[in-house]
Amino acid sequence: MSESVATRILGIESSCDETGLAVYDTRQGLLGEVLFSQIALHAPYGGVVPELASRDHVRRLPLLLEQLMLQTGGQRPDGVAVTAGPGLIGALLVGVNFARALAFAWDIPVIPVHHLEGHLLAPLLNGVAPFPAVALLVSGGHTMLIEVRGLGDYVLLGETLDDAAGEAFDKAAKMLGLGYPGGPALAALAEGGDPEAFRLPRPLLDRPGMDFSFSGLKTAFRLASMKVPEEDMTQRKNLAASFQQAVVDTLFRKCQRALQLTGLKRLIVAGGVGANRALRSALQTLAAEGVELCIADVAHCTDNAAMIALAGALHPEMAQSASAEFPVRARWSLVKEET
Ligand code: KG4
Ligand code: ZN
Repeated sequence: MSESVATRILGIESSCDETGLAVYDTRQGLLGEVLFSQIALHAPYGGVVPELASRDHVRRLPLLLEQLMLQTGGQRPDGVAVTAGPGLIGALLVGVNFARALAFAWDIPVIPVHHLEGHLLAPLLNGVAPFPAVALLVSGGHTMLIEVRGLGDYVLLGETLDDAAGEAFDKAAKMLGLGYPGGPALAALAEGGDPEAFRLPRPLLDRPGMDFSFSGLKTAFRLASMKVPEEDMTQRKNLAASFQQAVVDTLFRKCQRALQLTGLKRLIVAGGVGANRALRSALQTLAAEGVELCIADVAHCTDNAAMIALAGALHPEMAQSASAEFPVRARWSLVKEET
């Protein structure tokens, strides 16, 4: 985009079960956004049904674009940023093809965005400059600690050996018979519960390193849940709170370790689990150790298009012509595996 550096970027997110569009301006910030959640569509199935997700993205995108254009004054953007992976391949393809069609019609470039980089950069929506930093990326599919050396320079410090933190929340919620999506439902049940009522393990805390594991905790939770009668609301709340506390403690201690080992004083928290109130307040206490916490507001921790538009705006060098081929990937690594 050399001369005509993009300043107003339309972002499109459709990697899973949220359809989102947003306009981000490099000078004025976020100009507007719209988001449609497919929760009600997938709820009867207890999880996301990929084919239904793709079809619903097809249905929603044109209407949402119309809404967004009304909201933001209808001006043609300078580029369109779109999530090109990782995610559900059908759902991604819907967003990418929609982006391409718009790029053709408006004669503007397309910028493919890595969904996790979108999450990582989301705190920038509030104007924080987040580099260098340690980043905790906790979503439904990923749990990673990353050293963010600069824009696009991400080094893996540790990751989960089994379930992601969000996945653990979702599975625990399912065991308690809570609806989909489980994370927010379990967190809501945990409100007012006693987090010390059940002794649940904090996996891998006794070992060095920054990897995570949630499968042992999940098993311990399942065994504990079998002894809690469905009608015993107090015990159910206590169990949910104890589970949440075990996840929060584990994430907190590993973040602390990563900050100590890297000597960095800034922590980015990104991804859906970053919306968890108990996690947010635990991490706030790191301020006492001189750590600056960079975390997006709750609405921008979970999937949204504002973070995609922002990531696209920060990567003008990734801009492609509407007819150029670029990969759309269900799996796509964000990090370099060295320190
Ligand atoms: O980042 P995200 O919206 O989508 C992915 O890219 O995966 O993260 C979704 C995950 C789900 O597992 C959801 O249960 C979890 O984040 N989540 C939460 C909360 N809000 C969303 N987990 C715990 N507490 C929450 N408040
Ligand atoms: Zn996500």
